[in-house]
Amino acid sequence: MYRIALAFILAASPALAAPDLKLGAETFAGACASCHGPEATGDGPMAEYLAIDTPDLTAISARNGGTFPWLRIVHIVDGRTGLRGHGGMMPVFGAVFTGDTAVEDARDGTPVITSARVLAVVDYLAAIQAE
Ligand code: HEC
Repeated sequence: MYRIALAFILAASPALAAPDLKLGAETFAGACASCHGPEATGDGPMAEYLAIDTPDLTAISARNGGTFPWLRIVHIVDGRTGLRGHGGMMPVFGAVFTGDTAVEDARDGTPVITSARVLAVVDYLAAIQAE
């Protein structure tokens, strides 16, 4: 009985217990590098066609006093929460990356439910911050 319950709990657990940096890197290369650049420094081939500057995503922590604002970045990339500012050229991906819902705790312990690819790409960005 105990074994059956344990198997059920394991099967029902969120897919992502730890950051999936491989999925994050692949997602970045496929969906983000065209604008943000292969090294995320803001120099992708599409950047010159945009009316505004494409930010260097390795400097997010540096722009935020040395702390990576994980939850805010999830919201920017996901875009479905309504917490994003108006306007901007940055496309949103929550509705594109569907069918792989996952849960990850924000740094304050708040469970965040979105696409596994949104979580993975934000964890990838957190891992490549300069400094
Ligand atoms: C069509 C070009 C384009 C693509 C593709 C793109 N971005 Fe962006 N991104 C931008 C631009 C331009 C901004 C500047 C802010 C704005 O437009 O709202 C931005 C802003 C951001 C920011 C906010 C940075 C900050 O310091 O506030 C993050 C995070 C980000 N993008 C992540 C991503 C991720 C992750 C992907 C892929 C899943 C991606 N972007 C794909 C153009 C793009």
